[in-house]
Amino acid sequence: MEEITALAKRRGFIFPSSEIYGGINGFWDYGPVGVELKRNVREAWWREMVTLRDDVVGIETSLIMHPEVWRASGHVENFTDMMIDCKTCKKRFRADHLSGDQCPSCGNRTLTEPRAFNLMFRTYVGAMKDATSETYLRPETAQGMFVDFKLAYQAARKKPPFGLAQIGKAFRNEITPGNFIFRSREFELMELEFFVPPEPPEEGLRWHRYWVDERLRWWHDLGIQPERLRRHEYSGADLAHYSSATTDLEYDYPFGWGELEGIAHRGCYDLTQHVEASGKDLSFFDEDSKAKYLPAVVEPALGVDRALLVFLIDAYEKEADRTVLRLHPRLAPYKVAVFPLVRNKPDIVELAAKIERALRPAMRTVFDDSGNVGKRYYRQDEIGTPYCVTVDYDSLQNNDVTVRDRDSKAQIRVSIDKLAEHLKGRL
Ligand code: GAP
Repeated sequence: MEEITALAKRRGFIFPSSEIYGGINGFWDYGPVGVELKRNVREAWWREMVTLRDDVVGIETSLIMHPEVWRASGHVENFTDMMIDCKTCKKRFRADHLSGDQCPSCGNRTLTEPRAFNLMFRTYVGAMKDATSETYLRPETAQGMFVDFKLAYQAARKKPPFGLAQIGKAFRNEITPGNFIFRSREFELMELEFFVPPEPPEEGLRWHRYWVDERLRWWHDLGIQPERLRRHEYSGADLAHYSSATTDLEYDYPFGWGELEGIAHRGCYDLTQHVEASGKDLSFFDEDSKAKYLPAVVEPALGVDRALLVFLIDAYEKEADRTVLRLHPRLAPYKVAVFPLVRNKPDIVELAAKIERALRPAMRTVFDDSGNVGKRYYRQDEIGTPYCVTVDYDSLQNNDVTVRDRDSKAQIRVSIDKLAEHLKGRL
């Protein structure tokens, strides 16, 4: 993790937030390379979950919602972690991370009893700072899909089974943020609420299994090593009272197996809660069968940042002479880097710049003329660029360039006229 954190900072993937002021725990910034990777992660999810389907549409709801939303959803009461304070060193711990009565930081036996700590960030809307103006930054995007359910299905003219998808920021005042971007206090979620008829119940369970398989396929298609992924099925007391099935996909992180994404069958819980709290009828009316019902929900939910971390870890490889990120080309921040072999030959530099500009509309490119070509390859390998194109003396005579493959390091000559097509075919 330390190596990946260092590489992420050095190469412009991820920086600690507000570092010049000493940083702020649990908050991160994305640099010029990281922001490209993050866009590609979001896009890969959206493409699979929305674009390629006819039974899912997207929405984007506000980060701050009516405070009643969070009472109805159960977050005000239940979105808590049990925490324990040390009265001596004032450090705070999650109760489930402690064993015994000794403070792991200062060693004193001065720990408090466990107390519930709500993870939502509180804020005030408008000029008045009182109970009537108090609300929260959303801790998940899901509630936006539930409260907009009726407006959205009517606008999209969809009927269950169908889904609403959303990507957006979420905030949780985690007691113990850590493991780089694995657990932060501000992060981004990609959530699908897939609404299904509540009867027969087997159909809901079938959809749950379907989404677990779909989500696993997505990870495999994007190159994640299958042996580093596993399912964790919840049962008995670990299952939320309203859920009839919940599966986590877990990843083998450098710090051990941990949650990557959750796929929960939430029954009719959320819509029922909002119907009761708002007094509004959110049921679906089927024009064909004349049936009226509140749908059940299957929810695959994944953090963008956590996904990005897994793609970085999984792609990271240290070889004898280089560090390489074997990212799937669809995720790679830059698809192709273009170099002039030397900096002091204007014809070569100009031709390289012209080639790079011509490729821009078709793929994300980067131009690099600093240091020797070996160093440039090294830099591009470290950020996962699948192809490097070098313009040299022969290019001026033969109208061709060298294309070097990140994974095999193999180099071939390609005609400049065919370069865009050639690269598109390999991406
Ligand atoms: N609406 C369901 C929901 O929010 P969750 O299990 O609390 O479910 C879903 O969160 C996913 O969001 C997790 O599987 C993980 O990928 C990501 N996630 C949760 N808390 C996070 C945090 N503090 N920092 C980064 N990612 C987080």
